[in-house]
Amino acid sequence: MDAADVAADLTEVLYTSDQIAGRLTEIAAQIDQDYADKDPLLVGVLNGAVMVMADLTRALHIHCAMDWMAVSSYGMGTHSSGVVRILKDLSTDLVGRHVIVVEDIIDTGLTLSYLMQNLASRNPASLKIMTMFRKPDALKIDIDVTYLGFDLPNQFVVGYGLDYAGRYRNLTDVGILAEHVYS
Ligand code: PRP
Repeated sequence: MDAADVAADLTEVLYTSDQIAGRLTEIAAQIDQDYADKDPLLVGVLNGAVMVMADLTRALHIHCAMDWMAVSSYGMGTHSSGVVRILKDLSTDLVGRHVIVVEDIIDTGLTLSYLMQNLASRNPASLKIMTMFRKPDALKIDIDVTYLGFDLPNQFVVGYGLDYAGRYRNLTDVGILAEHVYS
């Protein structure tokens, strides 16, 4: 699905699939360089990171492994509490591994703040973050991002893994959702 398929639902296209692919090629080249001979483990956070994980890993020229976590926020609201429940844990032992956490988006930063503490306690050799998107104006906590795709405005954005009510994840472009869709 591309932006033309859901044109009436979007007020603006922020990044096209070509722009996303181009940025991922640049990031992959950097990771190739930084992790040559390190056999990194890329940890994707379900569900949104599926797209970026699939495209980023295929753009790499080095070997890597992949594993997945599923988490959900505790408490009221969606990401408000900062306490995260692990619904699916990794199958891989992190001791001595070079780990890159792969996310679709950092919004408040609370999910990754918790996850990074949790993963760091498993004694990896190194632990870095790659996120396709970040909303700087929504951040509630500082997150050290090593590989960043693009910053987004603090608006309701869908596509490339970002959903509204489970939809639009398979939108190849990224855009601002029109208010009539969710109001
Ligand atoms: C999204 C995203 C991050 C989190 C970021 O996941 O994939 O994991 O929100 O938000 P935060 O920075 O405010 O903590 P979501 O919980 O929407 O689940 P999903 O990946 O299945 O869409």
